[in-house]
Amino acid sequence: MEKQEILHDVLKKFRLPGPATLPAPYGNGLVNRSYVFSCRTSGRDERFLLQEINTCVFREPVRVMDNILMISRHIENRRNRKDSRERNGYLIPELVQAADGNYYIQDDKNRYWRIYRFVEHSRVLNEITHPDQAFEAAAMFGKFLRELAGLDPQLIHVTIPGFHDLSLRFAQLEQALKRDPSGRKTSCRKETEKAMACRNLEKEFISLVHEGRLTLRITHNDTKINNVLLDEHTGRGLCVIDLDTVMPSTVLSDFGDMMRTFVPSASEEEADTGKIMFRLPVFESMAGGFLSECGKLLTSAEKEYLVFGGKIMTLMQAIRFLTDYLNGDIYYTTERPGQNLQRARNQLKVLELFTEQEQVMQNLIRSML
Ligand SMILES: Nc1ncnc2c1ncn2[C@@H]1O[C@H](COP(=O)(O)OP(=O)(O)O)[C@@H](O)[C@H]1O
Ligand SMILES: [Mg+2]
Repeated sequence: MEKQEILHDVLKKFRLPGPATLPAPYGNGLVNRSYVFSCRTSGRDERFLLQEINTCVFREPVRVMDNILMISRHIENRRNRKDSRERNGYLIPELVQAADGNYYIQDDKNRYWRIYRFVEHSRVLNEITHPDQAFEAAAMFGKFLRELAGLDPQLIHVTIPGFHDLSLRFAQLEQALKRDPSGRKTSCRKETEKAMACRNLEKEFISLVHEGRLTLRITHNDTKINNVLLDEHTGRGLCVIDLDTVMPSTVLSDFGDMMRTFVPSASEEEADTGKIMFRLPVFESMAGGFLSECGKLLTSAEKEYLVFGGKIMTLMQAIRFLTDYLNGDIYYTTERPGQNLQRARNQLKVLELFTEQEQVMQNLIRSML
């Protein structure tokens, strides 16, 4: 079947408000495949985003959709209880129902599809160039956490087991070192030593989790800047997207991944680690935005360990890149040899910067409380 026919057949299975145009590929998402199309309803065009769920990454798409539906309903119920003046926009995009009553369809080739209403007048950033952008995006993720605080995290499925399990990541690194399937062990000795020297962070993390000092919450788990839609004119936060990784975890995951991806002046692809700078104004805005929305919700232990979360998430990412390098680049897409090692070096450098600036960040957070 032609691609166009496939897409046409998919659309037929959804409850759309009118005849649809042909979906065209959309956006720069790296995980799912997205398409935009529009429907003509009572004289005006309404746009929608069709997505094919990546089932290599999300092996249980039905559970993923179950999670998204649960949080959508919870957020919608809260929204309906609000005064109409306060109902300014949607925190997450609205799903379109399929003819069979579900909010996704499975086609005859075992592919899974869903449709969101398109959020108009929005834009996505791929990097942060001004602290205000960090404030807005972090405020949206803070709001997301707060809106979901009343929903039991135990109801949410763990769709990627071990996603933020630092001990598992260390074990996978050790395993890769032992097997050394690509004979690369000696070429990354320095990086391996650096990562292994951080096992004290792992110990601290484990005792934090085991002692139950951090509240289990429903978190987003992919809090990158390109997973927030901003108003194209004002730059204000509009909507949180990319909800596939929503799972039970702690605030450290969301704050930590923001810190890891927002604060360095260069992306994780930067090969020259000398170009990676610590951006204090970005950190300050990010923490300010986040706490402006969920500061009252968080316990003092959670607030105390936010910065630690940034270190943990960065270390975890360094280990994942290093492990993939040792395993012969089987998980992350690479364009050149050594790219995963370079990414690991980049993350280890970011971790170094965070360690140097830890006290400064801690003091800033305390001054905000
Ligand atoms: N509801 C929406 N309205 C408008 N644009 C959207 C919407 N959802 C996603 N997008 C756009 O599609 C891109 C990919 O979507 P996303 O859900 O983040 O997929 P991926 O998992 O592939 O990153 C986003 O970067 C954004 O540009
Ligand atoms: Mg995305």
